[in-house]
Amino acid sequence: MSRRPGNVSPLRTLRILCLSGPNLQLLGTREPAVYGRETLADIHERLHGRAEELRVTIEARQTNHEGMLLDWIGESISVGRFDGLLINPGAYTHTSVAIYDAIKAVGLPCVEVHLSNPDAREAFRRHSYVAPACVGRIAGFGGTSYLLALEGIVAHVRNAPRSG
Ligand code: DQA
Repeated sequence: MSRRPGNVSPLRTLRILCLSGPNLQLLGTREPAVYGRETLADIHERLHGRAEELRVTIEARQTNHEGMLLDWIGESISVGRFDGLLINPGAYTHTSVAIYDAIKAVGLPCVEVHLSNPDAREAFRRHSYVAPACVGRIAGFGGTSYLLALEGIVAHVRNAPRSG
């Protein structure tokens, strides 16, 4: 019996969409003591390398606009036919019911990613609106959080019991 989700063919290469939100284009120079010196381009390059090793496809995008994140999540099951999501919503983590709703609406498994550990920072970062829509969360490992999240989502999608 297949253990894949109902709509993922065992023959098709898994497709993962990785989204980063506001101010993450500034990685490299943004508060390096908190976020490290790696740029988002560096992280995306590492992600593509790991995706190749895992034999999956990854598409990585960044935007400062909440609506753009909503559009990308909303079309992820049609236009890109993705199988899973990684999202670092940046500050929208702590404010956005709309991102929670979008992830719930498409029904794709999603991992929440953070470079820093929001729970060890200011009190306002301790609440995530996005977390309840996600299968898991990786935080606190700098750019490596993205790679760990990729490992997690790929294992999750590959092992998820068939729905229905
Ligand atoms: C962040 C943590 C958020 O609290 C913050 O607003 C960010 C980055 C992280 O990756 O550590 O912009 O998502």
